[in-house]
Amino acid sequence: MSKTATLEFDGKKYEFPVTVGTEDEIGIDIKKLRGEAGLITLDPGFKNTGSCESAITFLDGEKGILRYRGYAIEDLAEKADFLEVVYLLIFGELPNKEQLEKFNKDIKEQSHVDEEMKKILDGFPKSAHPMGVLSSLTSALIAFNPSSVDVSSEEDMYKAIVKILGKFPVLAAWTLRKKNSLPLNYGDEDLGYVENLHKMMFEKPNKAYSVDKAVIDALDKLLILHADHEQNCSTSTVRMVGSSHAGLFASLSAGISALWGPLHGGANQAVIEMLEKIKEDGGDTHKFMQKAKDKEDPFRLMGFGHRVYKNFDPRAKIIKKSADEVLAQLGVDDPVLDIAKGLEKEALEDDYFVKRKLYPNVDFYSGIIYRALGIPVEMFTVMFALGRLPGWIAQWREMRLKKEPIGRPRQIYVGENHREYKPLGNR
Ligand code: ACO
Repeated sequence: MSKTATLEFDGKKYEFPVTVGTEDEIGIDIKKLRGEAGLITLDPGFKNTGSCESAITFLDGEKGILRYRGYAIEDLAEKADFLEVVYLLIFGELPNKEQLEKFNKDIKEQSHVDEEMKKILDGFPKSAHPMGVLSSLTSALIAFNPSSVDVSSEEDMYKAIVKILGKFPVLAAWTLRKKNSLPLNYGDEDLGYVENLHKMMFEKPNKAYSVDKAVIDALDKLLILHADHEQNCSTSTVRMVGSSHAGLFASLSAGISALWGPLHGGANQAVIEMLEKIKEDGGDTHKFMQKAKDKEDPFRLMGFGHRVYKNFDPRAKIIKKSADEVLAQLGVDDPVLDIAKGLEKEALEDDYFVKRKLYPNVDFYSGIIYRALGIPVEMFTVMFALGRLPGWIAQWREMRLKKEPIGRPRQIYVGENHREYKPLGNR
């Protein structure tokens, strides 16, 4: 295959090198385009722009493939536990027994949050959305851990990573406890990462804590499915903020804000709210399908469509099966599951959705499982953030180790040409 691409513009030809990935994806390296031809590329929403070379996650949206570090998502969801996947994403290999135990122990040792942080949490109204609170608390962690990470030291990098992996679940659990007027707590050293998280979220001060294993297994699987998804909006945000050499916690805080939006991680909350609305309206899925297709109507079928998947989102397949299993195991009968299945069936047979290759995405069914696990709707996107944390960390680490330049896109200016300033009295 030719290793260059040729661009012809204004009668001149320009050659650009071509980069081929390990899965034969091809990118034209246009770093010198502006210098040589005085041109830039224009791609709002970065629909066709590669921002980096990455060895973390591979996805093929046409074929519905998703792999972390080469391992199929189906295998990881079925056979691995979340902490193994966290290690895999960040360090590149599955841990052996000793590595995993050490990792777990190091995280647990860092899972104390400064008591002063409770005062910050106290300042938020109870009505505050947990994602806003989580983003602020993650940013506030910087004040209590001010030393900057020396990214040239693997040890320093490791310390920062276990620190955030230890403290983040505590902060996430606190956002829920505050909403539910429960005393703020810390985890239990003897529990696994996911069970510990669950205990921190739900433990009552007057009741011995216990949980159904099916709940922890389902939560573990959901966290794995959300753990990374290459250069999505929040991950690109983390890399972009980190590229200015802002610290890990600051970069993560920005990523949390990006994830909050309903077009991204906030979709899981939006899906359940939409399904509830359809139920309250009498359950006529056809009516809402028509609304989704009507260009005059701002309504969109939440949980449908994806920037990259133009085929079934492989995570949605796993989650749909899991939703059926978990609800049966826990004996939950949720009518919105039937509405979801009805919508999916109609959409998959509808010309509008078929033509545009709109399939259910990971969040179409995740909210139904979260609800069955007793997680309140406003916490859904926080659960997504807990899952995505290792992906953000892995991507930030990769970006810093590769010494990537500061992210700074260009633009085509379409505003006014030069104008004379008019004094206030003459306007
Ligand atoms: N319902 C109805 N129509 C849709 C939907 C939808 N959910 N999604 C896309 N379309 C239509 C668009 O109107 C557009 O139609 P047109 O070609 O006639 O103008 C076409 O499909 C392409 O859609 P775009 O918005 O251009 O696709 P884009 O890649 O920019 O957006 C996105 C992807 C944001 C996910 C979009 O599909 C969407 O808004 N979906 C609903 C929100 C959602 O579920 N987000 C979660 C994404 S997954 C995640 O973050 C974990």
